[in-house]
Amino acid sequence: MEDWVSIGYLFSAALFIFGLKKLGHPRTAPFGNQLGALGMFVAVITTVLSMHLEGGAEWILIIAGMFIGSAIGYWMAVRVEMTGMPELVALFNGFGGAASALVALSEVTKYIHDDSTLPSGLELTVTMVAAGLSALVGWMTLTGSLLAMYKLKGGINVFGKWLRTPTWGPPWLNPVKISLMLGVFILIFMSVEDPTNTQYLWAIIGISCLLGIILVLPIGGADMPVVVSLLNSLSGIAAAFTGFIIGNSVLIIAGSLVGASGLILTFIMCKAMNRTLPDVLFKSFGGTEKQTLTRTKVGSDAEEVAMMVDGAQKIIIVPGYGMAVSQCQHQVKEFADLVGEKFDTEVRYAIHPVAGRMPGHMNVLLAEANVPYEQLIEMEEINSEFPECDIAIVIGANDTCNPAARSGEGPLAGMPIIDADKARTVVIIKRSLSVGYAGVDNDLFYEDKTMMLFGDGKKMMNELNSAIKDL
Ligand code: TAP
Repeated sequence: MEDWVSIGYLFSAALFIFGLKKLGHPRTAPFGNQLGALGMFVAVITTVLSMHLEGGAEWILIIAGMFIGSAIGYWMAVRVEMTGMPELVALFNGFGGAASALVALSEVTKYIHDDSTLPSGLELTVTMVAAGLSALVGWMTLTGSLLAMYKLKGGINVFGKWLRTPTWGPPWLNPVKISLMLGVFILIFMSVEDPTNTQYLWAIIGISCLLGIILVLPIGGADMPVVVSLLNSLSGIAAAFTGFIIGNSVLIIAGSLVGASGLILTFIMCKAMNRTLPDVLFKSFGGTEKQTLTRTKVGSDAEEVAMMVDGAQKIIIVPGYGMAVSQCQHQVKEFADLVGEKFDTEVRYAIHPVAGRMPGHMNVLLAEANVPYEQLIEMEEINSEFPECDIAIVIGANDTCNPAARSGEGPLAGMPIIDADKARTVVIIKRSLSVGYAGVDNDLFYEDKTMMLFGDGKKMMNELNSAIKDL
């Protein structure tokens, strides 16, 4: 490799590493993101220049590809709603896996068409094993991610119910998964023995696509965050394998960084959900049919809640997915400022690690509304404060404060929750009594100390703020 290419790759790898470091804190995360994007730009430009393209047609092809790819990426990123981010991340994971697998495929088919380019000995074994693993992980990531995307969306019309019903995991599915996985390893071994035979490669691709679907199909409900971060990690691993095949060091580094950080996030998510990774992948207790609601509860109004708030010394706000849907984070911040100034009330925010639909969802929204970071308290730390808290105000959260999780049964079993039910009074802002993502009815709504403020989050927060100003 020429020196300037090595320096370009080294520079981009350093940018990836510093970018990742900056992503560790919400305040520095936007800069970390920019560093990562710059690193990718340097890597792409270095790769293109190192190819020493000659014909105008080759340049046109490369520039057109970069232009179209950038335009689609920009369009998707600008268009996406904050609530649609997890689906977009799932889709990008899938595309990343497929891109790596396609590059590996094109490299290996070169040998098939021209066996004079075929490496020999150990190099051949390493190339064919890396190509097989890249195909396995890459195609599995593509189909698994597409299915995860539709599950996060709540399914599509025709298949909606089927896709959203994640309990489809008959007992024979696990032996099938293991057999298919073993089958792929046998095929990889056979492809090393007979590298010019395309049948093995197509069989690996077919089985890997099927594996992606049957791995994600039984998972749902509260376990979806774990799957999305695992798929993210897999897309990085596929890239690293492809880096080995084409001898591209920056692809190996970037792929390993994505693979490792995705895996760390996966384990953090597992810990947050009180699950082990094998439980998530093989036990399929992530979701059930949505429960049918039979109970009723009379709603309160903003004036009644405002009267309660007057006199409260400590309020803990518990935000959830509904805050993201209604985009009421600014009204929530206004509420905290109002009660602080008017009643000298202490306000804190309880952050559940999987509240919303993506890691750090609540932190990002509240940071956008300029809520000081010191007020955002992680679940384990704030739970002990609820018994001394006058009012817990739950804004669009449901599963993350559902006491059913403590029962040890059902889709939420064992997931640690925000102890909002231990506050002296609970105010819940949501549109109805309906269930959250995991489809489990919430007893907290029906407790005597709970006041339900039915309506869209933004509308109700505006009404509550007006009522407090009028006091
Ligand atoms: P959820 O349990 O999903 O409940 C959200 C609630 O928000 C719903 O019950 C809904 O009730 C309410 N809502 C929706 N739109 C609203 C609006 N415009 N105004 C007010 N309320 C509104 O939320 P959560 O407590 O944040 O839990 C998150 C769930 O998502 C967990 O099960 C988690 O495992 C899963 N999940 C998380 C992630 C990550 S990484 N965070 C990724 C995928 C899945 P109404 O319809 O009655 O209004």
